Amino acid sequence: MSSAFLEMKNISKRYAGVQALDNVNLEIQPGEAHCLAGINGSGKSTLIKIISGVEVPDAGSEIYINGSRSLNRTSIDSIHQGIEVIYQDLSLFPNLTVAENIGISRMISGNRKILNKKEYIDIARKAMNRINIKLPLDHKVENLSIADQQLVAICRALTGDLKLLIMDEPTTALTKKEVDALLNVAIDLKQKGIAIIFVSHKLNEVMDVAEKVTVLRDGIEIGCYPASELNSDKIEYLMTGGNFKYSKNEDVYSTESPLLEVESISKKDNYKDISFVLHPGEILGVTGLLGSGRTELAMSLFGMNPFDTGSVKLNGEAIHFKSIEEAVARGVAYVPENRLVQGLVMEQSVSKNTVVTIIERLLKPSKIIDHRKKENLVKDLVRDFNIKIPSTDAAVSTLSGGNQQKVVLAKWIATEPKLLILDGPTVGVDVAAKGSIHEAIKELAKKGLGVIIISDEVAEVVNSCHRVLVMNRGRVISEFSTKDSQEEDILKCIEMSE
Ligand SMILES: Nc1ncnc2c1ncn2[C@@H]1O[C@H](COP(=O)(O)OP(=O)(O)OP(=O)(O)O)[C@@H](O)[C@H]1O
Ligand SMILES: [Mg+2]
Repeated sequence: MSSAFLEMKNISKRYAGVQALDNVNLEIQPGEAHCLAGINGSGKSTLIKIISGVEVPDAGSEIYINGSRSLNRTSIDSIHQGIEVIYQDLSLFPNLTVAENIGISRMISGNRKILNKKEYIDIARKAMNRINIKLPLDHKVENLSIADQQLVAICRALTGDLKLLIMDEPTTALTKKEVDALLNVAIDLKQKGIAIIFVSHKLNEVMDVAEKVTVLRDGIEIGCYPASELNSDKIEYLMTGGNFKYSKNEDVYSTESPLLEVESISKKDNYKDISFVLHPGEILGVTGLLGSGRTELAMSLFGMNPFDTGSVKLNGEAIHFKSIEEAVARGVAYVPENRLVQGLVMEQSVSKNTVVTIIERLLKPSKIIDHRKKENLVKDLVRDFNIKIPSTDAAVSTLSGGNQQKVVLAKWIATEPKLLILDGPTVGVDVAAKGSIHEAIKELAKKGLGVIIISDEVAEVVNSCHRVLVMNRGRVISEFSTKDSQEEDILKCIEMSE
């Protein structure tokens, strides 16, 4: 009999038309950190949903907890078995306090109606002490940084008899320092015999903590490997069957008439004295630490956060958008950072979601939608962005997270903007898809589109962009021409600003 906490054998799951998992095996020992790797749509989330009892696997699949067979599990069963999942959205209650958020699951699983304030604080203190952290217990969760919110979610998981903690994409919204702190918490949990499963696209970060890596591709288990035998090139190869290399952007653009001229714009408490010029066909990267003002700047250009002073010209004409509608009407598109609030209509098809913003362009003179034109457009976009779907009629809710992200991008590209602002365009998108997204963006730029890419991933901006601005505390502190600079130069500049 094995000593594994969790043993999964021949796990299969078929959705209409898609084999999401095909005979996958997974074994988790107490105190082990295990990484689940795979490109978008490879089956990672599906496997997690089966472990946590949210989905039931197909006949023939076997699950053992501490050696005994666990049949027909529900999510309540899995919580009683000591399994907790922290999803990317953290599922916290923003307007409750830290203590209430941590204590709440105890209240629910203990069948108690109401806990008093002291009881909440007691539970929360105990959970915090287990991993040696301090959080402001009476603050509302919505006022905390993402990193602290994540710790709240971990503490909440710790109020029960936790055996296995599963974290889906835990590091995407964290700064380097915060990631290190999170990994230290993970090491602490391991020492207490708690196992961890990481699902992550930023593998080099979690690899230091993980002992094992299971790689999935198209629902098939490629293998389970000791982390010490892998590096990011190898994992990438196992995930995709090839290796992807970024290539520098050497496309030339004309500097004759600027597309966007930003002159010394400032917004109180957001950013100060920002100036730059963007030409048609040019791709400009903006990087810097989280909270450096990059997103606020992007939102200003899109009319969501009007600037206080300074001036902006689009094609030579002064603009000061006060609403999104104004910005869209003038050919500006903005794809925001948080894929969950990007307004996809989950129950509707990929096709409908993609064309919703451009319906008018698809009308025949008779005012009837030209379905051929629509299908061709959608098919082109699906191909350009490598969106993995059974058909363009599939509901967006059935796509994997990364593929939903690509639909959002396709939807905005379909509007044929003049200026495209992308905030974290490849967060949660796998290596292979990152490549195709960047190639697609370069192609658009070649046709005269001006692009601003906001990203944490320096490797990404240094290769896709012509120029890169580094921001810190609301100011541009440095500018690099990517032709003459390396990734390390930019990284150094960001680190020194920390
Ligand atoms: N409810 C569903 N109905 C139909 N197909 C589904 C459903 N849920 C998932 N799928 C399909 O199963 C496959 C695996 O999806 P899954 O969400 O597990 O991928 P993933 O590895 O988590 O990807 P990502 O990195 O993008 O989050 C995908 O092809 C997806 O479209
Ligand atoms: Mg997923």
